[in-house]
Amino acid sequence: MDISIQDLTKIYPNGHKALKSVSLEISNGMFGLLGANGAGKSTLMRILVSLMSPTTGKVLVNGEDLRKNRKAIRTMTGYLPQDFSAFPKLRSWEFLDYSARLAGVKGKQKRRDAVEEMLEEVGLYEARERFANNLSGGMKRRLGIAQALIGDPKIIIVDEPTTGLDPDERIRFRNLLTKISARDVIIILSTHIVGDISSTCHHMALLRSGRLMYNGSPEALINQAKGNVWKIKASHEQFDEVNVKFNVISSIPSVGGWELEVVNESPKGFDAVPIEPNLEHAYVYYMEHYAEASLL
Ligand SMILES: Nc1ncnc2c1ncn2[C@@H]1O[C@H](COP(=O)(O)OP(=O)(O)OP(=O)(O)O)[C@@H](O)[C@H]1O
Ligand SMILES: [Mg+2]
Repeated sequence: MDISIQDLTKIYPNGHKALKSVSLEISNGMFGLLGANGAGKSTLMRILVSLMSPTTGKVLVNGEDLRKNRKAIRTMTGYLPQDFSAFPKLRSWEFLDYSARLAGVKGKQKRRDAVEEMLEEVGLYEARERFANNLSGGMKRRLGIAQALIGDPKIIIVDEPTTGLDPDERIRFRNLLTKISARDVIIILSTHIVGDISSTCHHMALLRSGRLMYNGSPEALINQAKGNVWKIKASHEQFDEVNVKFNVISSIPSVGGWELEVVNESPKGFDAVPIEPNLEHAYVYYMEHYAEASLL
């Protein structure tokens, strides 16, 4: 599978420019789309599932224009919208059976097997007879995930899928996606949480104010931050000063003051010791150092 996003621009009717010349090539595996609130993640995803047309630019799926093959591509796509919460008055299993039908799973027994499997995968088997509209928020989210994954879609687009999941469910969901990503599928996952771009995401993109800031591997992003992340020590009196001077990622109390992780090219003083950056450090570093130029 491959998706080619070519020079997409989206201007909403009110004149808001939500995507600015975004081009991306996405192939098999898990692709993480990272960006702050309002970056344009959901806009891009709605275009990819053809719920909305771009103002200019186009999307090719396996070389075919998305707009000309809407129906066929839609059938092979599983989608979890960010605000998926209104469910019909159907039992959980009935809702998934309906979703399986939409995804093109033919035959009663086949659908039944698919539904049972999905209920197990998202931990809703015990709740299969409960009405979907009466489930708890987190359970609804899991049912939403299940409807996106049922019927072996070739393209899976999940918009902030982990919102509202408890820590156990987050891990479970990540493992489930990892398992699925080994197949011949594309998974596009949006998030504003750096930790959601797990080690299994080999490709990622950073969006900011509708603009593509970075496109590559998490490792390459981390490499760019090398030498720019430090552990420093500050007394209680220095705490405010440090927060003004540096981009502080974390601070933990220690004997007589604080130990902080900061992003900076070369912090002077404060017993600064360089440390290995992680993706969160890299994100902060990258946004700070490459942002201004691309905001024009
Ligand atoms: N229907 C709309 N009409 C006008 N502006 C819109 C519309 N939908 C979104 N926008 C604006 O477009 C920008 C991008 O919105 P979008 O929902 O794509 O961002 P996002 O990255 O998904 O954000 P979040 O993390 O909050 O979900 C925002 O500034 C938003 O206010
Ligand atoms: Mg969104």
